[in-house]
Amino acid sequence: MSKLTAPRGTFDILPEQASVRAGVERTARELLEAAGYGRIETPSFEATELFARGVGEATDIVQKEMYSFDDGGGRSLTLRPEGTAPVCRAYVQHGMHKLPAPVRVYYLSSFFRAERPQAGRYRQFWQLGIEALGSEDPAVDAETIVLLAAILAQTGVTGVRLRLSSLGSLGTREAYRDELAEYLRANAARLAPVVRERIELNPLRAFDSEDPGTREVMAGAPRLLDRLERDDAEHFASVRELLGRAGVAYEIDPTLVRGLDYYTRTLFEFTSDALGAQSGVAGGGRYDGLVEALGGPPTPGVGWAAGIERILLASGEHPVSVAPVDLYVAFEAARADAFETLTAAREAGLAAQMELAGRSLKGQLKQAERLGARFFAVVEGESVRLRDLAAGTEETVDRDALVERLVAA
Ligand code: HAM
Repeated sequence: MSKLTAPRGTFDILPEQASVRAGVERTARELLEAAGYGRIETPSFEATELFARGVGEATDIVQKEMYSFDDGGGRSLTLRPEGTAPVCRAYVQHGMHKLPAPVRVYYLSSFFRAERPQAGRYRQFWQLGIEALGSEDPAVDAETIVLLAAILAQTGVTGVRLRLSSLGSLGTREAYRDELAEYLRANAARLAPVVRERIELNPLRAFDSEDPGTREVMAGAPRLLDRLERDDAEHFASVRELLGRAGVAYEIDPTLVRGLDYYTRTLFEFTSDALGAQSGVAGGGRYDGLVEALGGPPTPGVGWAAGIERILLASGEHPVSVAPVDLYVAFEAARADAFETLTAAREAGLAAQMELAGRSLKGQLKQAERLGARFFAVVEGESVRLRDLAAGTEETVDRDALVERLVAA
């Protein structure tokens, strides 16, 4: 029979890698919970309409990267490609606008995008994300960015750069879109064909192009940052001031584009030099119109998501933490007695293991040493030969007294 493998663009997380990931997750959880964020988890799939309406019909994600399927009853469902729209859906569904603002949540979940797989880009990947809903205070924008910078620093991500921009309100953005489309149409002959085709659908993506002719045109293109209305410009100035106060370095990048349509005002991306082509470690921004677009009350929001795989790729070697073993229960014939001892030890809170692979006594000792066990107990009916592997001493104890003796130690 041929051997089956995981689908292209997906990967298994084996125990050793899980322990490395757990370290990153612990760091993030501790920082976020201390800052008032509570965990939220939404389903792995949602109504397709949520992403069409939330992320935007014109985005690459909705146009070509969604895993959508029929639920059997004629309703289209989609494996979630991102977490912001689902969190906003949950916020509306559970009336969370009645909670004291800002409502701050984080998630640590897997997401799905039908992208061309390469290093750092997968079809199922993990994101750590946060969303803060119900406040337009620039301090919330700054807080989320400062937390992200701290998480990246503490997880050891190297060569980090923060690019920052602002998109203004939806109205400003629409007026700017028209102005930019007009400019692109006037310079259409010098644009790459793919950019030309997207002028009407998504003119902003022209800033993403690597094509030399297009780049030349874009260098002279009108900039959204220069078109911000007064309160949006003040909001952005305030975010920058607060980042400065927190000592977070950033570069203003008026050409910053992100692949999701819900953003308003603050927009940012963290990249790492340690990554190749897929250099984005994390990205996010404000999305003041999204909750309303999903049928909720007008509600400002801001958040980000970081790719766990990219954090790991950009942070080099991580020590694999091994769970300590207090007791290794060995035996030659007394399997049932050994099992009873194992159970009693675990009930008493000890990290205990028992021989399960039919090794000789010598092999069992070797295995105990490999696990770094502190005690090695050979169960022989009602008595036990107990060896302290750290101290190198051995004594014989009653099996009944063993657990109490170890707990005391
Ligand atoms: P995003 O930029 O699409 O934003 O994704 C955020 C992060 O997820 C990326 O920076 C990257 O690290 C990781 N990522 C994305 N696609 C892949 C992939 N195919 N393979 C591996 N990692 C990937 C969002 O998803 C927004 N929901 C972020 C947000 C939250 N904005 C506001 N709140």
